[in-house]
Order: sequence, then C-alpha cells, then structure tokens
Amino acid sequence: MSISSKDSPSFMTHRGIFISFEGIDGAGKSTHIEALAHAFEAQGRAVTLTREPGGTALAEKLRTLVLNEAMDALTEALLVFAARRDHLQQLIEPALVRGDVVISDRFTDATFAYQGSGRGYDWKTLLYLERLVQTAQGLEGDFVRQPDLTLWFDLDPDIAAARLAGARVPDKFESQSAEFFRRVSGGYERRMQADSKRFARIAADNLRDVVWQHVLQAVQQQGWLP
Ligand code: TYD
Repeated sequence: MSISSKDSPSFMTHRGIFISFEGIDGAGKSTHIEALAHAFEAQGRAVTLTREPGGTALAEKLRTLVLNEAMDALTEALLVFAARRDHLQQLIEPALVRGDVVISDRFTDATFAYQGSGRGYDWKTLLYLERLVQTAQGLEGDFVRQPDLTLWFDLDPDIAAARLAGARVPDKFESQSAEFFRRVSGGYERRMQADSKRFARIAADNLRDVVWQHVLQAVQQQGWLP
C-alpha cells in the first residue's frame, strides 16, 4: 500500500537534530525542555519546540479529543498516530530539512508506554502503525523516522503523583492510578531495551540542577553542544 503525496517530505535526508523528551506525567520535563532550547539557541542554532499529541493546528485539535474524551485504546492510538502523521509532515520533517534542532515534548514512545503498556493495547499493532506513519510513503521504504536522541525522565510514580497533586485540574491521563503509571514506566523501559542507543535514561528524582547536568551531558555526548 502506498500513500502517494507529491509534496510529502522524504523523511530521510536531514541536517537537523531531533530530540524527544519522555516520561510519566509529573516527571518534570518542562523546565529542561526550555533550558535545552536556550542552550542550542545560545550556540546559534534555530530551534523548533513542539509537543505531542499536537504541534500543528490539526494535531492540537486531536490532542483536545485524546486528553478529554473517553474512548477505547485503539481509537486513542489511531488518533495519536493521525496527529503524529500531520505533525511529521507539516512541522518536523520541514524543520529537519532546514537544519533546525527539533525538540518535542513526547513522541512515539509515549504511544507504546501509554496506549500499549498503560492501557494494554496490542504492541505489535502499534509497531505496524509506527511503521505506517513514520515512513514517508506509508510502509514503503526502510527508513522509519525516530528521534536521534530520546531523554527518558524516569521517576517513581508515587513521587510523580505527589508532584502533580493540586498543581492543576488533572486531564484524563493525569488522573490515572499509580498502578497505571507503573505500567507506563514499564513500557518506556521496554522501548529503551529495544533501541538502547537512542535513549538516555535520566534519573528524575534528583534536584533540578543535577537533572539538568544529566540532560546536558547526554546531549554533549552526541557532540551537539560544547
Ligand atoms: P503532557 O505531555 O504531559 O502535557 P502537559 O504537561 O501539558 O499535560 O500530556 C500529554 C498526555 O498525553 C500525557 O498524559 C501522555 C499522553 N499521551 C498518550 O497517551 N499517547 C501519546 O502518544 C502521547 C504523545 C501522549
């Protein structure tokens, strides 16, 4: 099967860098995402900051549905992957071609962690959808777009829950049990084991400055920052 689209970006050649941040809700990614964007900008790099689900007008609409409406796990997976397809085509691939540093608050690993391990949806089907969505022409070709580096903020679900408590009105996922988030963490672990070179595991229970040093080191090890 082929999804032909003349203006579909190639998904392959790029000069940019693609970094994703992952972790359970409350793991504390946000401040470090901002700080990393500033660190790249200080080196004169153009940065595209984005998030999933979301990042484009259409994907943000799908985000509102996914985060607020009850639905079965396959429907949820299809919506996040639909959002991802639009996000890749409209924002991520063009930014990588320009040579930007693309920093995304979550990407595909979140689908495996939340819909796969959290909600118990079939992992193999998610692998199929990943391949369908993250290749330029939908399943054709060997190149499946993935982040160049994924920073996984690993935090005990009980600590994350305490951090989130009272912070804001919880959305559909934030109101899940610690048991749900234990499964989500297990999903991230499984993704890391399948592609360990792509991942840096960040112990997120440290002081903010210590966590930042670990984030910076992971990026420096790739040779992307001095
Ligand atoms: P999050 O990234 O934590 O944003 P905010 O800090 O604004 O709440 O929220 C996104 C939520 O969506 C989070 O609970 C994880 C969930 N999610 C999925 O379930 N599947 C996915 O594929 C993605 C990208 C996110």
